[in-house]
Amino acid sequence: MLYMNNFGRKHFLEVPIINNFEDICLGSLGIMSCIIIDTALKEKVSISRKLDAAIHYIYSPYDELPGILHSLHAAPESCHAVLCIVPSEAYEEVKSIVDSVTMPANNFYVSYVCVGNTCHSNMMQDVLALYNEGINPNEFEFIAGKAKFIAQQHFEFKNLSRQHIHQLEDTQRDFDALINIGKALSIEKNPDRLLKLILHLSKTITGADAGSIYLVEEVNGNKLLRFKHSHTFSKDLPYEEFTIPMDKNSIAGYVAVTQQVLNIPDVYQLGPDDPVAFNSSFDKAHNYRSKSMLVVPMINHINKTIGVIQLINSKEDIENNYNGNEAYSIKLSCEEDFNTKVVPFQKRYESLMEAVASQAAIAIENNRMIRQIQQQFEEFVRASVTAIESRDVATSGHSFRVADVCLKMAQAINEETTGPFATITFTDTELKELEYAALLHDFGKVYIDTAIFLKSHKLYPKDLENILLKLEYLYRYQQLKYAMTIFNEMKKDNEFDKHLENVNAIEMERDDILHKILEARQKVIELNNPMVKEMDVEKEVKNLYAMLESLDCCDVENQKMEIFNDYYIKNLTIRRGSLNDDERREIESHVVHTYNFVSKIPWPPEFARIPEIAAKHHEKLDGTGYPYGLKGDEIPLQARIMALADIFDALIATDRPYKPPITLEQALSIIKEEALKNKLDKDIVDLFITKKIYEQFDRNAYRTKTAVQ
Ligand SMILES: [Fe+2]
Ligand SMILES: [Fe+2]
Repeated sequence: MLYMNNFGRKHFLEVPIINNFEDICLGSLGIMSCIIIDTALKEKVSISRKLDAAIHYIYSPYDELPGILHSLHAAPESCHAVLCIVPSEAYEEVKSIVDSVTMPANNFYVSYVCVGNTCHSNMMQDVLALYNEGINPNEFEFIAGKAKFIAQQHFEFKNLSRQHIHQLEDTQRDFDALINIGKALSIEKNPDRLLKLILHLSKTITGADAGSIYLVEEVNGNKLLRFKHSHTFSKDLPYEEFTIPMDKNSIAGYVAVTQQVLNIPDVYQLGPDDPVAFNSSFDKAHNYRSKSMLVVPMINHINKTIGVIQLINSKEDIENNYNGNEAYSIKLSCEEDFNTKVVPFQKRYESLMEAVASQAAIAIENNRMIRQIQQQFEEFVRASVTAIESRDVATSGHSFRVADVCLKMAQAINEETTGPFATITFTDTELKELEYAALLHDFGKVYIDTAIFLKSHKLYPKDLENILLKLEYLYRYQQLKYAMTIFNEMKKDNEFDKHLENVNAIEMERDDILHKILEARQKVIELNNPMVKEMDVEKEVKNLYAMLESLDCCDVENQKMEIFNDYYIKNLTIRRGSLNDDERREIESHVVHTYNFVSKIPWPPEFARIPEIAAKHHEKLDGTGYPYGLKGDEIPLQARIMALADIFDALIATDRPYKPPITLEQALSIIKEEALKNKLDKDIVDLFITKKIYEQFDRNAYRTKTAVQ
């Protein structure tokens, strides 16, 4: 029923053409018509034409009320009447808004015609200005019919355009998603997160409630599909990895083998003639109802299937319930939901998901290749380090332990929220960079003669043996020489007493010399010890040399034999340790060799600093380190951490040939001293001690029992 109010006369007009409420129930959708009538024009033309011409403006959509208000405001002065057909439930609101508009002329009347079951009392008070303007019921019927027609047109157009807009919005979202997938997939490095991302994006695009990813595996020549990742929005379903044969007996297997996309509206409607059959055991076990299914193969650049994306139960209904995020907003909780909210996957998703799947395949393959390259790097680095360390049993495991300590230190720095390291954070890549640099820091030792590393005493064993043999030879030579002297003395035609006296003197002299030789032998053994302390080695060696030089000793060709040469003097005068200056310099050159070797490795750009970090692990803050004599901040933080780790591991080593083992307390106090002397970084040493990093790694880890000698 449609009510018209006649102002002042309380007159009701019943208009038959719109008495069918259902017919014009556009109001329930918020639709209204607003007709502005130019009454001046009306007088000039015949009823139908004049009204057509008089209808100055018709606007329908209630939700575009501002547009109507604008039109009212801008209406020509000749317009005196407005007819608004409004849904009855919106009457009050529309009236208050329209009334608030300043009309162009005082005699501008607004009439309302309400559509709906309710008749407002306010509305009954309203004015049918049209009546006063001379519009009779027939004319009104025409106007109202026109309004209804226009309103219906608007409604249909709007309804249609809403669907089109949703379709367009969805296409735009999918298009954006496809671009973003390319970016996101190329960025994600973690393989598990990558699979989750692929599934998440696939579900988002298609509005799927559930989805799974299978990856192809080859075991003993048999191809399998591994159920790798799965997610169901409506149910928290547990999943375990399992494998199924890659054959046509399963839907995923069929797609993997044939490389065809399957778009099944309802898997329970599959018949015996269909190429695939649905196994409902999962549904039964988990009280789920699989219905629509889109299954796409992931095919790599050489046309091999590397996996399958299986999407289940699309909830993306463009005509109803569209919000662009159906996958993660609509829950399927009961059987009714599965019947009403699940729709077949849109046809266009077949090709779209093929594009997504091929991008995913590339990402997975890239990811595999990157991991393979990383593994190869890792194995190469570890094999290289093992090779160096197997040369020297004393330092075996050193590089691995240094790497462990460096990582522990970097992680401790990451945890700092105050103090000197509060703003420093090592990323995963930087941690890997530090680890590789630490593992390879001593690689240059491979270029150095192993004997130098194994040199536990100032003289190499063969040189010690050599000089001891020479001294024995000297001893015997002197014995023989004096025996000959005594023999010759005995041959002399002397008196017995005189003989005795001379022989005694010779024997005393001989014994003295032989004693000195034995002492010299002992002294050489003592001087050879690198741990000897409180001995003026230079003076001792000088005396030894002088004594031995004073003794004649000839070889079998009767040539003077040199017992103590410069080589022995140079080595036995070593004040600290077992290495002479040349050997020390050679050992120190390992950092340069490390740099030269490590910088030839084609590191990826994110690891470009590895050679520099590795080459600076012997630099000291005060500039006394080697090879460059860098100071303070010239030494990268990573190299300063490594310097501490390197020294600490050497200090606590129990089997270094050139030094006695020391206790943990002694080692800690030595590194503290080094920090006080501005050799090691004090902040790093403090953190090492306060965080007790020294307790967080096994000091005997990675040691090998034997070494290549
Ligand atoms: Fe080193
Ligand atoms: Fe080292």
